[in-house]
Amino acid sequence: MIDELRKEIEEARRSFVHELEGVPSPETLAALRERFLGRKKGRVSLLLARLRECAAAERPLAGQAVNELKAFVEEALAAAPARAAAPAGEWRDPSLPPSRLPAGGEHLIAAIQRRIEDIFLQLGYEIARGPEVELEDYNFTKLNIPAHHPARDEQDTFFLEGHDEMVLRTHTSPMQVRYMLEHRPPLKIISPGKAFRKDDPDATHSPCFHQVEALLVDRGVRFSHLKGTLEAFCRSFYGPDIVLRFRPGYFPFTEPSAEVDISCFLCRGRQDRAATPDPACRVCKGSGWLEILGSGMVHPQVLRNCGIDPEEYSGFALGMGIERVAMVKYGVPDLRLLYENDLRLLGQFG
Ligand code: DAH
Repeated sequence: MIDELRKEIEEARRSFVHELEGVPSPETLAALRERFLGRKKGRVSLLLARLRECAAAERPLAGQAVNELKAFVEEALAAAPARAAAPAGEWRDPSLPPSRLPAGGEHLIAAIQRRIEDIFLQLGYEIARGPEVELEDYNFTKLNIPAHHPARDEQDTFFLEGHDEMVLRTHTSPMQVRYMLEHRPPLKIISPGKAFRKDDPDATHSPCFHQVEALLVDRGVRFSHLKGTLEAFCRSFYGPDIVLRFRPGYFPFTEPSAEVDISCFLCRGRQDRAATPDPACRVCKGSGWLEILGSGMVHPQVLRNCGIDPEEYSGFALGMGIERVAMVKYGVPDLRLLYENDLRLLGQFG
């Protein structure tokens, strides 16, 4: 019996080699695999089934022979696609460099966010990420924006159906609340992420956008600390000659509040403070200044809402829009470009 089986194994091997030689498009390769390795009717399986007919003493040797055939077929099939790609007779130059795979790159928004994170990390901040679905209480009320406050209308809000108390956060500021409720000062965090507002998309609006929030709370924190931090950040991010301008502003969760502009890095950034802006500047449109963020001293009521005694502690906060940075720093003229996944744009930054 074993001799007969050996003969059949040899035959199977020969016909496999023959068929493989003649082949092999991917489809015929698959068919060949099925014919030899198919679970039920594959030739190898049928041979294995025949082992039962062997005498017990012969079975191990016979089994080994079939398994060798199986390994041979598997290996040959695995190597076949490469052979198929190099038809006999075609001359190949193995020293040629391989064709390059297109490599992906970071999206501009992600790249800016990471750069901002890096700078704040160097300044000793920690990164704290918060949820995009947020309690209305944290998004508004604890930030000193009570119900019916006009600021709630300005940030036209997505509510969650069936969950009256939940919103898609309209800014990253609620992360201030989350963090202060769970940690005691000193606190030094930034919180990057998405925010959402019911805005119709246009050149400067998108219903989903990105912000980075920063919060520092400790004993004796003053406005000068905010100024110094912002100067350090802006010089690092926009350039060493940047000049900052603080304009009085209003945010319910900071007091006093300031809107911060930087001197236009294109027409004034590299000159002294007195330099006059270029009236035709495409970046600042001739004003010489670029609005980049909102900031201020954390409102005592916000500290109190989060269980921190404003008599003992003070802090500053700031929030900046990443899309705004993309427009200001990289001259992206229309924010929608950032969401269309057009490689002609993305490729310039990735
Ligand atoms: N949350 C504000 C917005 O989305 C931005 C902001 C302003 C954040 C002042 C702050 C701040 O932390 O102090 O318009």
